[in-house]
Amino acid sequence: MPSETSNLPLFLRAAQGLEVERPPVWLMRQAGRILPEYRALRAHFPDFKAFVKNPDAASEATLQPVDILGVDAAIIFSDILVVPEAMGLDYEMVEAKGPRFPKVIENEAAVAALQSGAAAAEKLDYVYAALRQTKQALNGRVPLIGFAGAPWTIFAYMLEGGGSKTFSKARRMLYAEPELSHVLLQKITDTTIAYLRRQVQSGADLLQLFDSWAGELPPAHYRTFAVPYLNQICAAIPEVPKTIFAKGAWFALEDLAACDCQVIGLDWNIPPAFARARVGALPVLQGNLDPCALYADKKSIQLATLEMIRTFGHRHIVNLGHGVYPDTPLDGVRAFVDTVLEYRKDSSSH
Ligand code: CP3
Repeated sequence: MPSETSNLPLFLRAAQGLEVERPPVWLMRQAGRILPEYRALRAHFPDFKAFVKNPDAASEATLQPVDILGVDAAIIFSDILVVPEAMGLDYEMVEAKGPRFPKVIENEAAVAALQSGAAAAEKLDYVYAALRQTKQALNGRVPLIGFAGAPWTIFAYMLEGGGSKTFSKARRMLYAEPELSHVLLQKITDTTIAYLRRQVQSGADLLQLFDSWAGELPPAHYRTFAVPYLNQICAAIPEVPKTIFAKGAWFALEDLAACDCQVIGLDWNIPPAFARARVGALPVLQGNLDPCALYADKKSIQLATLEMIRTFGHRHIVNLGHGVYPDTPLDGVRAFVDTVLEYRKDSSSH
């Protein structure tokens, strides 16, 4: 193995599909949801947005799971909704409820009024500052993951104004105004590319795209309105590996594998063998334990985690099938992480 690659941290070697001594482990939404240390830090801020915009606090929240849980990667503390905000669509984070956009996209004029590309990405200086600061504090201990929402998921928030049971406003727009939909998706994509490029310049080692509402679309629409934009983003940033996590998009695995990404994140509905058969031998798969498995007793968590590692085999990054839930017992999280950290390929009994 060439020395440049063997010197890479475990997580980046695994993301490149290299042979590794054990799979790396991290948890989606590890920064901010589970640790009492996060809640203590959060208490210093009047609201979530003030926290996100403070690089010292964001950096500390990013480092906490690395220091406390020993995970193999850090993910920058921020949110996917900073992108619509930078484009001119402000949001509020309503305590215990989630995001709400006071204004939503209702017509062509509203789409035209949005800023995009580098001009919008410039407004996210606080994210770049948090990345630089975190990178320095990590001092090479583990890689730093940057991220953004996928264009379809950001589009959905811009149309719905928050979460939704049916996403019928966003889905309706794709049928009623396909051309305007593409204009908006392209504006989001241009902003996301500029934003992620700046994240890489600020120290991100890998980029993950969260397509949280992928499973809301029929396959043909996912192929028309989501995949081409994911592809554009991946192709525009060749410098680092990319992960696409498209929740619920089991039907699009072949399309995702054709994107210029190295890692495909899986939710817990997808059997590993089903995914492997569709993506082919090359992509690394990430996931996919049911986040609720961490409410079980320690022994059951250990068994489920080992079973998952064995089922995936090589080319695998251990994670949950979605973000860790806020009330997950810390002991459950530790049992999951520790099982992977202690895993040895050659040991048949564990
Ligand atoms: O992975 C990480 O820990 C990094 C930080 C991160 C946050 N949000 C912090 C956050 C990441 C990667 C996200 C992504 C995100 N945000 C997604 C995609 C992933 C997914 O879960 O599907 C989505 C859909 C959002 C939008 C969002 N932000 C919602 C729906 C909410 C409210 C409820 C919640 O906790 O998810 C947020 C708020 C938010 N984002 C919090 C955190 C730590 C909670 C804020 C608080 O402390 O009050």
